[in-house]
Amino acid sequence: MIRTQMAKKKCFRLSLFAVVSVILLLVPYMARLDFPDTVITRSPISSSRVENDSPETTGQPQFVYLVQGASRHPIPGLKATPNREIIWLTYRDKTGDIYFPNSTHATGRNRLLWEATERASKRNDGGYLYYLFLDDDLLLTNEKDKKRWWRKNLPSNPFERFELFLLDFQPAVGFPGYFFHLPAVPSPVGVTYNFDAIFNGFHRHTMSFMLPYISDLDHTSWFFAQWFVIHISAMFYNSNRVLCKAVYAKNKRHHSSNGAYTDSNDFRISRDYFRTWFNKNNTVKTANGEIIYLLQTFKTQAMYLDIPGNASRKHNMEYRVSTKFITTAFNKSHPGVQRILHWRSLPKVRNILYGSEKDEPDFFPDVFPLH
Ligand SMILES: *[C@@H]1O[C@H](CO)[C@@H](O)[C@H](O)[C@H]1NC(C)=O
Ligand SMILES: *[C@@H]1O[C@H](CO)[C@@H](O)[C@H](O)[C@H]1NC(C)=O
Ligand SMILES: *[C@@H]1O[C@H](CO)[C@@H](O)[C@H](O)[C@H]1NC(C)=O
Ligand SMILES: *[C@@H]1O[C@H](CO)[C@@H](O)[C@H](O)[C@H]1NC(C)=O
Repeated sequence: MIRTQMAKKKCFRLSLFAVVSVILLLVPYMARLDFPDTVITRSPISSSRVENDSPETTGQPQFVYLVQGASRHPIPGLKATPNREIIWLTYRDKTGDIYFPNSTHATGRNRLLWEATERASKRNDGGYLYYLFLDDDLLLTNEKDKKRWWRKNLPSNPFERFELFLLDFQPAVGFPGYFFHLPAVPSPVGVTYNFDAIFNGFHRHTMSFMLPYISDLDHTSWFFAQWFVIHISAMFYNSNRVLCKAVYAKNKRHHSSNGAYTDSNDFRISRDYFRTWFNKNNTVKTANGEIIYLLQTFKTQAMYLDIPGNASRKHNMEYRVSTKFITTAFNKSHPGVQRILHWRSLPKVRNILYGSEKDEPDFFPDVFPLH
């Protein structure tokens, strides 16, 4: 995260510095669509049957890549395919699908998410299964050491490989290796607290809470939007925030910081802000049956080096945070919580999350082991 966003900042120095907060374009999308919940389909690139494999694809892309950069350019190894759509946001020129000058890392990604959900809502199958955000300087590389592969045979294109990983594990959020966690996890997959924003794939059900990015503290630091993702992942999806070591991310732009931005790495700021969202009176029941206060997840340091956990496939984990859960665990008068409730109530988001389901299933967070 640090490296990536620093790099991005360097790039931004060439253009515009001002950071503006974006107001989500609250264009109501009225179409009502019906589709079954959680259509899990097999990737055309995979011929072997594994857990989570299931019937036919609907023939529409399961993956949408949301790229942001100064200007559109090819990304090595990444091409649109029948199963993969790519949307570009550019901030220096109009070569992308969306032009958003003065966007921040998070507000740009949220604008891309908006576009992708618009497209998803026009489909009749729930839309993409994964929303993959990447920075335009991403170099995704294959790990050659088969000890770090989760299957005997893997596609040679690293993006196809990562997509196969997403289909096999169906993580809430999946991410490739990055320089700071290559040694940390010995097995092909694992969980790790800190993961870089350079390339993250989000299951569509995570837009019940974790997406859109929380850009409230962008004026203090662009790192904080990813901190919220990291913390929410560990708090709600501990075994399903999965590091895939068969591929790793590099970026060619280099770390640079000379004060052009406020770029605090003091994650106590984001933690202390996030604490104000919670209802400290209420407990919640976790996936393993414990009754806890979610504020307990903030007890020790704001950025853990690592926390225990084992990566797991999705199985029947429910990723959709319910309205009932949100209004119990959080202060529903808080503007940040209000914004999430509003987002969830948009017809297009509601359709992506629940389709024609009448009732929201209960949500039990898989909380990282508390100290
Ligand atoms: C972007 O920010 C610059 C500097 O504050 C400002 O002059 C410009 O009008 C902004 N551009 C847009 C499109 O908002
Ligand atoms: C928690 O309980 C106190 C005392 O009853 C009350 O004043 C406060 O508003 C409650 N907090 C929330 C978020 O409802
Ligand atoms: C992870 O798996 C190992 C080996 O099965 C086990 O010993 C350990 O307790 C697990 N950790 C957690 C947090 O579940
Ligand atoms: C809940 O949020 C509102 C709005 O930010 C705030 O005024 C209120 O004090 C909060 N309640 C508690 C108990 O934190």
